[in-house]
Amino acid sequence: MIEGRRRGRFITFEGPDGSGKSTQAERLAAVLRADGLDVVLTREPGGTPLGERVRAVLLDRDAAGRHSPRADALLFSAARAQHVDDVIEPALVRGAVVVCDRYADSTAAYQGYGSGLSLDELRRLEAFATRGLRPDLVILLDLSVTAGMGRRLAGEPGSVNRFESPEAFDAAFHERVRAGFLALAAADPARWRVVDADRPADEIAQDVVALVRAFLGSVPERR
Ligand code: TYD
Repeated sequence: MIEGRRRGRFITFEGPDGSGKSTQAERLAAVLRADGLDVVLTREPGGTPLGERVRAVLLDRDAAGRHSPRADALLFSAARAQHVDDVIEPALVRGAVVVCDRYADSTAAYQGYGSGLSLDELRRLEAFATRGLRPDLVILLDLSVTAGMGRRLAGEPGSVNRFESPEAFDAAFHERVRAGFLALAAADPARWRVVDADRPADEIAQDVVALVRAFLGSVPERR
């Protein structure tokens, strides 16, 4: 079983669209590398050639409305299975710190809380796709729906995907996603940390680095 063989640490970033996860994941990885750690920075959907192809299918704006939530859940999970096997597990076995921009909790928040699929069924799907590999630490970058959308729409043209294009934008869906993330965090406070993401990136980065250093320092290395 994966869990018994890994020595590394698995840290994920979660949060609504526009919460700045990618920037913060990159910054954290750079700081930990400067600390001398072996760091693997990766993302979902993506992280492998198969995952990147699935990502293109999933985020195609022209496909808006044509995927059923079950099909989405299976596609995200297929990409995740490949990602665990090819990238995350080997890095953890080697003892690296894996920093991942989104993971299975995004499926619970988006396809579960957002689209209404059963959380129990999604957890079973997650267990199958990941072979039970769960993050040691989940950093939730929490942001209001309006602030998140404002950031994304002000960003790069083409940076909005089918979950967030203005014509497809469903504020109630994104409110459910945000509430879902907060519920997941509240249910498992030992693994989750909630960070207020409606602040300048430097302030958020300081908090993230401090909490990750505290976490890494407090957990003895697995042997
Ligand atoms: P991402 O590339 O992280 O977008 P952003 O930078 O806006 O956060 O994620 C792409 C979209 O896919 C995002 O809207 C969240 C969604 N998503 C799911 O619905 N389920 C999942 O399991 C994952 C990983 C992402």
